[in-house]
Amino acid sequence: MCGIVAYIGPREAYPIVLKGLKRLEYRGYDSSGVALLNKGLKVYKKKGKVAELEDSLIGKDLHANTGMGHTRWATHGEPSDRNAHPHTSANGKLAMIHNGIIENYTQLKQELTKKGYKFHSDTDTEVLLNFIQDIQEHNECGLEEALRIALKRVVGAYVIILLDHDNPDTIIAARKGSPLVIGVGKGEHFLASDASPIIEYTKEVVYVNDYELAIIKADELVLKNLGNEKLTPFIQKLDLELAAIEKGGYDHFMLKEIFEQPATIFDCLRGRLDVAAGTITMAGVQKNIEKLTSANRIVMVACGTSWHAGLVAEYVFEELCRIPVEVEYASEFRYRNPVVREGDVIFAISQSGETADTIVAIEKAKENGAFIFGVVNVVGSSIARVSHAGAYTHAGPEIGVASTKAFTAQLAVLIMIALKIAWEKGTIDQQRYNHLLQELHEIPEKVAEALRHDDEIKRIANKYKDAQDFLYLGRGYNFPIALEGALKMKEISYIHAEGYPAAEMKHGPIALVDKDLPVVFVATKDSYHEKIISNIQEIKARKGMVLAVISEGDETITGMADDIMIVPEADELVAPLLSVIPMQLLSYHVGIAKNLDVDKPRNLAKSVTVE
Ligand code: AGP
Ligand code: GLU
Repeated sequence: MCGIVAYIGPREAYPIVLKGLKRLEYRGYDSSGVALLNKGLKVYKKKGKVAELEDSLIGKDLHANTGMGHTRWATHGEPSDRNAHPHTSANGKLAMIHNGIIENYTQLKQELTKKGYKFHSDTDTEVLLNFIQDIQEHNECGLEEALRIALKRVVGAYVIILLDHDNPDTIIAARKGSPLVIGVGKGEHFLASDASPIIEYTKEVVYVNDYELAIIKADELVLKNLGNEKLTPFIQKLDLELAAIEKGGYDHFMLKEIFEQPATIFDCLRGRLDVAAGTITMAGVQKNIEKLTSANRIVMVACGTSWHAGLVAEYVFEELCRIPVEVEYASEFRYRNPVVREGDVIFAISQSGETADTIVAIEKAKENGAFIFGVVNVVGSSIARVSHAGAYTHAGPEIGVASTKAFTAQLAVLIMIALKIAWEKGTIDQQRYNHLLQELHEIPEKVAEALRHDDEIKRIANKYKDAQDFLYLGRGYNFPIALEGALKMKEISYIHAEGYPAAEMKHGPIALVDKDLPVVFVATKDSYHEKIISNIQEIKARKGMVLAVISEGDETITGMADDIMIVPEADELVAPLLSVIPMQLLSYHVGIAKNLDVDKPRNLAKSVTVE
């Protein structure tokens, strides 16, 4: 994700672009920049927030009626001045901003390097821009034609906006897989990632579709497809208010991010999982495959929800890779005197990449010779930099304090890593390997299916919103999801909730069970299913209320539970990506029913950068 804004018309472009970027910072904010077209192309960009860019431009001549800006959420190349957008082509004539990922940029970069191109950044964006220039020069064609040719070779997702020194009265944009809105004013046009930078100027908008190009002048909007056929722009009237636009029409960022998960898991798998080829491509894993396959043991180090991802990974890695795995709370690991040696592989799992306990824990492990592999969402964050290698989760900015889409992206990355290691070690047979690749491939659509039960879960939430306590129980791969469900309920609704291995109930906690205690079973169809049915019966026998996350069509538990939350059936190894969805929705709706601030729960911070 990132924020993109552009303007062409009679007004000063810079103030409109700057204000628009500030509106879009929720989409990503590690660096920003502007390009202004007026008697030449001026590009200003820097690491940090938009306000820092603004401060750096005080006193400069920023007059222009054509301009664009970008607030970045890095995917290729850490946050820095040089990697910030806009990027400039080798010949200095073109400037481009980009939202998305160019998956085949490495191949394009190799081709261009052979032709003598030099690159000033580590981004995939700069590669695409010079690819466009190269086509323009080689084919001796206009920018629009060069862009059309280039985009036919590009693999990945993009919104791109181009300014051309030789055509100052035109902006060219294209879209595939990332959002682009065009605001239609009187003798002026606005472009942005969503309508929030546009709505104060015009409510008439055109949503650009995939594989469409827009050629925009102050008083003219031409829409075409990649086949150079003209399309009729469909102008809609916006009826959303500003606040709602930033949340994508959802009431809260948390709900928006829960519903983003089919797309964010897809983005996480994008360019990595190839079912047809039977391959998983992860450079950080491949380059270090010897260290990973020969690990004496693996230690998952994390906090909170990320720790729950590590616990799922323990079950996955031991099952697939046959390597001993331990899961450590970073805050405990860093203070006790753990035995860490050469040959240990530490997975540091963190959404923010800035959690103080996790940073210190892995720094100490690193001093003792361990190999550190970071699984992080924020590109260029501290944990990403401290780690020897890593894999980004590509979940995009997670604004809600409660981690949801980052968690499922962590699971997807960790399962891919385990599959890759198991394949290299030979601890998984071809059939199970292919089966699990296919299972992972189907997860985005199955998550979308699980989300379709939101109304039922909202009803259940309203039924139990006054409970004083909750108990969450699971077994095997679903035990960590019981813990995650309890954490979500605690942090969003402030109701005490406890997660436990279901079989552990008989060793004490079952004394808690009475008619007032809702017990949530994470009970999707798996190898523990018969056992967890017995556990449900133990609770029913003591008058406990049973809520159950079940696989579609599970009539047995449906007949036993007071309320059920349905998810599609899936292999137990990937089922946590599905069984967590009702847990997220249940906590969200209970929090709403209690009129709580679900995006910013009391006492919590999005990133715990203190000890
Ligand atoms: C999860 O909902 C919480 N916000 C919290 O437990 C979080 O997972 C924990 O602080 C770790 O953060 P990190 O993933 O950014 O390291
Ligand atoms: N892939 C581009 C980069 O890393 C764009 C990222 C974004 O969408 O902000 O710079």
